[in-house]
Amino acid sequence: MTTKREIGVVPPIVLNDGSLIPQLGFGVFQVPPDQVFDTVTAALRAGYRSIDTAAAYQNEEGTGRAIRQFGLPRDEIFVTTKLWNSDQGYDSTLRACTASLDRLGLDYLDLYLIHWPVPAADKFVDTFRAFQRLKADGLVRSIGVSNFRIADLERVTAETGETPSVNQIELHPRLVQRALREYHAEHAIATEAWSPLGQGTLLDDPVVTRIAGEVGRTPAQVVIRWHLQLGNVVIPKSVTPARIEQNFDVFGFELTGDQMRAITALDDGTRTGPDPDTFAMGLDT
Ligand code: A2P
Repeated sequence: MTTKREIGVVPPIVLNDGSLIPQLGFGVFQVPPDQVFDTVTAALRAGYRSIDTAAAYQNEEGTGRAIRQFGLPRDEIFVTTKLWNSDQGYDSTLRACTASLDRLGLDYLDLYLIHWPVPAADKFVDTFRAFQRLKADGLVRSIGVSNFRIADLERVTAETGETPSVNQIELHPRLVQRALREYHAEHAIATEAWSPLGQGTLLDDPVVTRIAGEVGRTPAQVVIRWHLQLGNVVIPKSVTPARIEQNFDVFGFELTGDQMRAITALDDGTRTGPDPDTFAMGLDT
C-alpha cells in the first residue's frame, strides 16, 4: 500500500514504490534515551514530520512516545527505523521489526532500513526478503537499506527482484559520494544523508562560513540547503531547540551554482563514521 499524500510543509521526494518522504527530516542518532522525548517533541513543534531512529540508537521507546503524545494523525508523520546487524536473517528480521514496532508503539513503519550491509555475515539478501514479506503484510510501507555499496545494491536487487527505495549513507561536503549518488539516480533509489553536517565538524569551514555570510544564513542552514539542492533526503540531528528550529528554516533562500560547486569541492573523502566494507558490530562470530 502506498500513500501519495504530502506530509507537512516540507517538499517531498517520490520513492520508487510511489510513497512520499519529506525531503527534510529529523535524525535522533546519538540522542540519549532520556533526552529523546523532549528532543523529538521540539522537532515536531518546529514542523518536522519525518523522524529517523534505529534499534541500535536505543531510543525508539522515547521517540515513539513523543510521536504518539504529540497527537498528529498517524498518516501525517513519516517514521523510519533500522534493523540492527545482529538481527539480520529472515526469521530474526521478522521478529526485530515487531520488537521495534512494540517499542515505538506503532502498528506500521513508513520506512524500514537494513542498517549496515555487514558483508562478513552475508545475510542482507535474506534480510531484504524478510523486508518484502513485512511490506506485503502491511507492517512496513517502504523498504530500503543504509550504508550499502554499489555492489551490495546490485546484488540485493538482482537476487530479490526489488530495488531498495532508499539508501541512507554518510554524506556531507567532505564525503559527497558522487559514484553512489549517480548509481542511485540511475536506479531510482532515493539518497538519504546521515551526519549531513559532518557531525558538526563542517560548520567552521572557511568556505561554508564565507557562503553563510553571503546569503545571511548560518553555516548549518547553508549545508542543509546544499543537500536539498543536490536532491538528497536530509536528516540533521540536534538536541538544542534553537538549532532544531534553525535547521528547519531552510526553504526561504537558494545557493547559486558557484556556491554549490564551492561546497562540493570540499570533498576529501573524510568519513566521520565506520566504513561499510568492514563494519560488523553486533556480529557474533
Ligand atoms: P547539538 O546536538 O549539541 O545541538 P549531524 O547531523 O551531521 O550528525 O550533526 C550533528 C551535530 O551538529 C551535533 O553535534 C549538533 O549539536 C550539531 N548541530 C546541529 N545543528 C546545528 C546548528 N544549527 N548549529 C551548530 N551546530 C549544530
